[in-house]
Order: sequence, then C-alpha cells, then structure tokens
Amino acid sequence: MIVTTAQLFKHAYGKYAVGAYNINNAEQAMGLFKGAIDSKAPFIIQISKGARSYTDKRMLEAIIRSAGEIFPEAIFAVHLDHGDEQTCYDCIDSGFFSSVMIDASHDPFEKNVEITKRVVDKAHAKGISVEAELGMLGGVEEDIKVEDGHATLTNPVEAQEFIKLTGCDSLACAIGTSHGAFKFKGKQSLHFDVLQKIKDLVPGFPLVMHGSSSVPQDEVARINAAGGTIAGSMGVDVNEYLPAAKLGVTKINIDTDGRLVWTRVHREFFRDKPSEFDFRPPGKIFIVEYAKFIASRNVLLGSAGQLDSLRASLGK
Ligand code: G3H
Ligand code: 13P
Ligand code: ZN
Repeated sequence: MIVTTAQLFKHAYGKYAVGAYNINNAEQAMGLFKGAIDSKAPFIIQISKGARSYTDKRMLEAIIRSAGEIFPEAIFAVHLDHGDEQTCYDCIDSGFFSSVMIDASHDPFEKNVEITKRVVDKAHAKGISVEAELGMLGGVEEDIKVEDGHATLTNPVEAQEFIKLTGCDSLACAIGTSHGAFKFKGKQSLHFDVLQKIKDLVPGFPLVMHGSSSVPQDEVARINAAGGTIAGSMGVDVNEYLPAAKLGVTKINIDTDGRLVWTRVHREFFRDKPSEFDFRPPGKIFIVEYAKFIASRNVLLGSAGQLDSLRASLGK
C-alpha cells in the first residue's frame, strides 16, 4: 500500500528512522519489498533522475506498482531522490509520487529558497510533500561532484530560517556524511552537535540523512577478493543510525550499500562459474542477498517490527 511520506514520518519521528532505498530495476525492487516484509518494516522507495532515465521512467513506476501487488502487506512511500526543478514538476504531475526532493543545495541560500518555494507551492497544491536540502554533502551525485574540503555542514540557524521561508516538509542536512563508497578517511562520527542544535530550533520537524551507507568492510573485502579494486572505502557507523533518529532524523538514505551487494554477488558468481552466461541465477541470488541486507538495515534503523503499529495508526 502506497501511503504519504508525511504519514510515515508522523509514526516514526523521534522513535526510529524510515529507510529510504534507491531502486533501478526489478531485482532491486523484489529484494527491497521482500526484505521489508521479512523485517516487518515500512520504507521509502526512491528513484533518482538517473534511475528514471536508465530504462524509462514509466518502467520503474510499473515495477513499483507490481511489487505493491505482489507484496500487498507492504506499506511504503514513493519519493523522487535529488530532483531538479523540472524533474520535480514531472513527478508531481505523474500522480504516482508521495514526495519529491528538490535539491538546490548547490545554489546560494536565497536561490535555494526561491527554487524550493516554487516546488513546494506546486507540490502542496497536489498534496505531495517536499524534501529540500541545505548545506553540502561531499561526494558525487548525478552530474555534480563536490570536491574534498568543499562540503559544508548545515548551519542550524539558517536551517530554521530556510524551513520558515520555503514551507518544505523535511530537510536534508549535511552532518558529515557524503555520497558514495569513500565517505571518510579513517573513522569519523556524525556531527551530533549540529543535529542537536537543529532539533532544538525546529522540534518535531523531520530531518533527512543522505549518504548513509555503511560500506561494510567484509563486503568490500569479498568484492576485492573476486577481482574488484575498491580501496580505502569507508562508511557511516551503523550504530549511529538510531541515535540520529532520536534527534529527529526520520529518513535515512541508503543506496551505495545495495550496489556493493550487487557487485559482490555478481563478481563471486562469475568468478566461481566462469562458463555461465545466464543472468537469472546470479539475479536470484542478488534478490535473496539484497532482501537480507534490507532487513538487517531496518533492524538498525529501528523500523523493523513497526508495520503492525503503523497499520493500526493508519486505521487500515
Ligand atoms: O544520492 C544519489 C543516489 O545514490 C542515487 O544515485 O543518481 O546514480 O542514481 P544515482
Ligand atoms: P549513499 O551513497 O551513502 O548510499 O547515499 C545515498 C543517498 O543519499 C541517496 O540520496
Ligand atoms: Zn542523497
């Protein structure tokens, strides 16, 4: 059942974080829905601009609709990840999305406010909520690369002002994470001090953490043992997900870790079976492995086991 992102946030705020997982194809969708049901967790399925053009935007919508029918117990929202203004309008008009993200975080504050406000007005007119971003994460997303040292943490006072000026429904904050598999050099912690200040200024307002993959080191080791060359990768400490959730982080975005599962499964499969050329056997293994991964993340986010309580709160 597709619900609004606002309904998911209302149930989760301050208690747990809803996992927001990117999908690009049917195998990822199957693994995601299976993992969510196995762990009895609500979730957000998100589609990036790149994912929408990978095959065709209608293909992903059809896959999600079908997955919802195959797993009727699932409760989830559909979200546009890192949208530009035009893509936001396209998704708002499609009638399929629960929420969109307008990412104008690379623009100056005033321009970010201006663009975000325009999207909020259009989205709210159709009952769709809007995630915006303030501050700059490091790493690569779509066609934008933020070089080392140019990432900026979210300023809490600006965040309060930004929310007031734009009327956005949730805010992606930069608190030390970055996109991709190379987040930190050595061990680092999230900036809980920044998070606490934001929460104090906007209590009850849902915050979003991007770049939240943990980049499991055993996964990377298996990929490298099967021919990969991913060196020096580092991710978020999974034990920091729940403390962040208690400080208002209601949506936690995880994409890279799923790509690592895919890479490990396929590298090992073709290393061990070099004469194989059928994509279904490794695809089947991936679905099972991705489902296990999703369930394990939902436990760490605190969303595992919340499905029945959420269903009751929705009166369904
Ligand atoms: O933050 C970006 C997400 O990981 C989506 O990545 O734009 O390559 O689909 P993508
Ligand atoms: P990761 O690259 O850490 O998985 O972050 C994904 C993300 O933020 C999607 O918007
Ligand atoms: Zn992101």
